[in-house]
Amino acid sequence: MKFEVLSDSPRVSGRKVLGIALFEDFARSDLDVIPSSLAVLTWMSMPRENFKAKKDSVLVIPLADGEVRHIIIFGLGKRGEAAPDDYRKAAYSITRHAAAKGADTVALAIPGAEDRTISRCIGEGAALAAYRFEKYHEPDPEDVFAVPAYIDVLRGNVDGLEEGRIMANGQCYARDLANEPGNVINPAVLEDSARALAAEKGLAISVLHADELKKRGMNALLSVGSGSATPPRLIHLTYEPVAAGSAKPAKSSIAIVGKGLTFDSGGLSLKPADSMLTMKGDKTGACVALGTIKAASELGLPIKLHVIIGAAENMPSGSAYRPDDVIKAYNGKTIEVNNTDAEGRLTLADALAYACEQKPDAVIDIATLTGACAVALGDTTAGLFSNDDKLAQEMLDASAASGEPFWRLPMTDPNLRKKLKSPIADLVNSAGRYGGAITAAMFLENFVEKGIPWCHLDIAATDFVKEPYSYYIKGASAFGIRSILTCLIGRAKDGAI
Ligand code: BES
Ligand code: MN
Ligand code: ZN
Repeated sequence: MKFEVLSDSPRVSGRKVLGIALFEDFARSDLDVIPSSLAVLTWMSMPRENFKAKKDSVLVIPLADGEVRHIIIFGLGKRGEAAPDDYRKAAYSITRHAAAKGADTVALAIPGAEDRTISRCIGEGAALAAYRFEKYHEPDPEDVFAVPAYIDVLRGNVDGLEEGRIMANGQCYARDLANEPGNVINPAVLEDSARALAAEKGLAISVLHADELKKRGMNALLSVGSGSATPPRLIHLTYEPVAAGSAKPAKSSIAIVGKGLTFDSGGLSLKPADSMLTMKGDKTGACVALGTIKAASELGLPIKLHVIIGAAENMPSGSAYRPDDVIKAYNGKTIEVNNTDAEGRLTLADALAYACEQKPDAVIDIATLTGACAVALGDTTAGLFSNDDKLAQEMLDASAASGEPFWRLPMTDPNLRKKLKSPIADLVNSAGRYGGAITAAMFLENFVEKGIPWCHLDIAATDFVKEPYSYYIKGASAFGIRSILTCLIGRAKDGAI
């Protein structure tokens, strides 16, 4: 897919579909950007078809002849109520409809496209329309796979479109990884994927294997992976803007820590059969972290980025860790295991402590951590926790701009914190069902160095789309990646971007 920006009317030659987005209060002059003959047709068709540009409504106008075969109009709803996500949905929906009509080129006339952030949304929406995971079967004949090769955005902003394309590509890369089943991606293969990415993007990479983890005392990560035939590992990638060819030196350094459970069976505290389904997605945090560093390097962001992944497979076996085990984590704290299915927080414990050693300005972890978070917020809103109000607000603003809803949950209740107390160790790893997302976040806080701003994103359930919505098809969403990237772009402002 190639984006082009046309400052004026679409070149008719080769343009097969023209897409227009309109607010409900549209006027004839809103059609001035398109050739007058098409504008006349559009203007006459809308009242005839009773099209009012209501939010998310679509009108397809087939044309009798000429190179533009269809005009597709997308309703943006009330002008004052438009959110950034409406522009993503407009570009996505028009691109999908254009694909259904067999178009090889679509021209998009979307109001506000001159604006860089709106063009970024348009770029994201159009690029997300191309995503399918068809590796293991023939494409569904009912589905239209091929999207137009060329997307012309009338009066668009080139930089914004390119940013959007890179962000969506990072997201689709993460979705491809997350969609792979546990028999294809195990911790060793996740390492291979990280190495391939590092080689392609010129990133530094170091990987700690079991012997090294043992030497350093990363027993929490080791314990979780001990039941699997594939040992765990800690993967650390670094993006340094200047080393990677960006003109600007780093303005800030951020560590992204991703939960990387390539499969979560629950371990000896085995999950019921149905709850195990989609647990190949328990590595989504890691996939998001990898997609983030890929996109950040392509954007040339003037930010130093660490990506840290505790990769493991949680399996029951004779060598598996057990309920009642007491583990000493990397930072010296001892943990009594009362549920081997609360494994994510154990891998994150070591990964977070390691991340803090890099002395970043902030740590963001992203994890499919608790079913309780999904129970609290549903499967299209994710949880956000932080020890720092400023960082929390920064991430919430990025979330609002990204169309990925996050909701901050409190870490203030001392009665909940008490539930993490163990009679024989510093902590237990699970504190029951009530407030389960919060107690998980409180557990993690024990492994974050005091004074380092930290934000924890719980994407359990938002990571895996069961029924298509918005611009998501079924399967891995890589939810959260655009919020993190938007936060990084925000930090880079006044710099290279
Ligand atoms: N990976 C799961 C959380 C999860 C649940 C992700 C549903 C996506 C969808 C996590 O490791 C887990 O098993 N958490 C337990 C914690 C409990 C034992 C304290 C849970 O949520 O039940
Ligand atoms: Mn689990
Ligand atoms: Zn898990």
